[in-house]
Amino acid sequence: MGKKKNDAKETYREIDIIDLKVAFGKFYALKGVSFFANKKEFLGVIGASGAGKTTVLRILTGQIRPTAGKAFVGGYDVTKKGNLISLLVGYVPQLEHLSLYYDFSALQNAQLFGRLYGLRPKEIEERSRNVLEILGFDEDLMTKTVSRLSGGERKRVSICLGMIHDPKMLLLDEPTTGLDAHLRHETLNYLKELNYRLGTTMVIISHDLEIVDYCTRVVLLEDGEVSQFGTPQELISSLPGKGESIKVILHAMTPEIRHRVASLPGVQYTAQAGRNAVKLFIDNPEDNLLPVIQQLNEMKMPFEGVEIVEADFFDYFQVKPWKDNEIGGTAK
Ligand SMILES: Nc1ncnc2c1ncn2[C@@H]1O[C@H](COP(=O)(O)OP(=O)(O)OP(=O)(O)O)[C@@H](O)[C@H]1O
Ligand SMILES: [Mg+2]
Repeated sequence: MGKKKNDAKETYREIDIIDLKVAFGKFYALKGVSFFANKKEFLGVIGASGAGKTTVLRILTGQIRPTAGKAFVGGYDVTKKGNLISLLVGYVPQLEHLSLYYDFSALQNAQLFGRLYGLRPKEIEERSRNVLEILGFDEDLMTKTVSRLSGGERKRVSICLGMIHDPKMLLLDEPTTGLDAHLRHETLNYLKELNYRLGTTMVIISHDLEIVDYCTRVVLLEDGEVSQFGTPQELISSLPGKGESIKVILHAMTPEIRHRVASLPGVQYTAQAGRNAVKLFIDNPEDNLLPVIQQLNEMKMPFEGVEIVEADFFDYFQVKPWKDNEIGGTAK
């Protein structure tokens, strides 16, 4: 796919979404969202059902057009370069049974799918073997009919189909939904491997926070708006304590005890950290460690330990991102 000068790239980010609005009739599924991913990044698009996640993918694959705003992939406006976009972008739909022929093997599915892109059988064979190998398939798995593969293996076949034409970026709609915890991590590890070995930019939709550990950048969508966008570390560092918190391990935890600990001076948020522990989000945790211990003693609150620990994304999610939290919500 030649990048000729007259293709007139308007931006150089791999994915760039700028004040994008999408209306279905009077209803706005996306109300002006902006976010981006650079080449080779692993972008997580996270949100509850109905937040607008699939709508974002449908824009990026050119299936629907923006009502307002812009979307670019590989530097090209998605509304202007339809054919080019479909070569640049691979797509793995949420329900793989819609794209796979169960009576055929992974390699045969790849042949059927690859032909849609006008690829030659030999090219398809080489390409699919290479991708399936990275996805952990041996000869036996490649040649078994899909009906005899496990759920996780089928998911990997559909990922291979999305990669068949060597796209620069792969968009995946909830690739881990419906898999058990082990298979979810296995699938994410294989995607990370593709990302690393082939340099494919990944955009992965999920309503599951688990994916954050794999992402270089995360966007949280809420009711058609971006509630948070950044690298996982940037988001965690935006909390009081800038990525650190004070963990208090107590003898017992009741709502009343949690409330009392949360009301210590300077504590802005608390997050549950195991059965009997709570993390306190407070400015300058190092300076506040001793005062916290003193205050716990003063209020005669027995504790087993108080220490500075790193904050993680699960803490972040407990205290920060949802709009409700701005006005109280579950904070504190
Ligand atoms: N073609 C359409 N016509 C009307 N409304 C639509 C259409 N497509 C999506 N919507 C609405 O837009 C909103 C966002 O839909 P979208 O499919 O993007 O959500 P999602 O975040 O992918 O949710 P899920 O996690 O359930 O897949 C929803 O309220 C949905 O009902
Ligand atoms: Mg969806």
